[in-house]
This record gives sequence, C-alpha cells and structure tokens, in this order.
Amino acid sequence: MKDSDRFSWQRLLQQAEGLLSVSTNRVSNSANLSALLYQELIDVSWVGFYFLQDDKLMLGPFQGKPACVSIEMGKGVCGSAAVSGDAIRVADVDTFDGHIACDADARSEVVVPLFKRGELFGVLDVDSTSPDRFNEEDEAGLKALSQVYLSSID
Ligand code: SME
Repeated sequence: MKDSDRFSWQRLLQQAEGLLSVSTNRVSNSANLSALLYQELIDVSWVGFYFLQDDKLMLGPFQGKPACVSIEMGKGVCGSAAVSGDAIRVADVDTFDGHIACDADARSEVVVPLFKRGELFGVLDVDSTSPDRFNEEDEAGLKALSQVYLSSID
C-alpha cells in the first residue's frame, strides 16, 4: 500500500471542512458528514447523529442499518455520553451496562456529545462489528470532526 493510500485523520478533516463549507443546514451537513465517515473510516458498521429534542435523543441522519429512533437521556452509550458531556469509547459493548443493541452485530462503539453555544445539541455515534475498534486517536479525530460540523451549522 502506498503511504498516500493510508487513512489519515488530517486528510479526512480537510475533506469534511470542504464538504460542510457549502451549507449551514444541520440536517444537510450531518447527512453528508455521516456519508463521508461511513465511506472513509475502515471497519465501521454505523455512523450517525442523534439530536436533542424534548429531552430525548432523536435519530438524525445516519449510514448503516436502521436504528433506534429515540434514546432517553442517561440511557445507552449515547444517552450516557449526552448526560456526562464527555465522549465514551466502549471496547466491548457487552460490558457496558445498559448498552442499546440497535444492531446485534455491533461490538465496539464511540459516542461524542455535541454542544452548540454551550448547550447540548446531540451526539455523534460510530459503531463497529469488530471489538476494540476505536483508540484514543480515533476519539480525538471524531471530536475534531464534531467541531468542524458544529462550526459549520447555524
Ligand atoms: N448503541 C447505542 C444506540 C444507538 S445505535 O448503536 C445506532 C447506545 O447504546 O446508545
């Protein structure tokens, strides 16, 4: 494999900045960012957004199998990350108490909470069917991409 073919967070961030620069619409930009991540990240089975609405996380744009439509705050990895305000990286979903198994094949997961002007806005959720798929660098890359998304929208 040539070096230029290898996955690069820096290159993905640049792609995302370009892709999201043409719109400030939260739905359009989350749809395109989901598609970009699903296409570019290796060994990922689901990528998508949940948006805070009426004190619940409601399914937004995503790529992958159909998923749970609504998640209560504090429930699952998504609801826990939303309440804690910190990203949660789960190496083995079977060990996470309360994990919501939208896809029975999912083995590891990372969720980044999204804050706009200091207010919880939603979460970005990425799943893999491989155990321990996500490392610290992946978490940092997804946090950086979340910032690109948040800066792009109204
Ligand atoms: N596993 C998540 C639910 C969302 S799906 O993975 C798409 C959770 O436990 O919150």
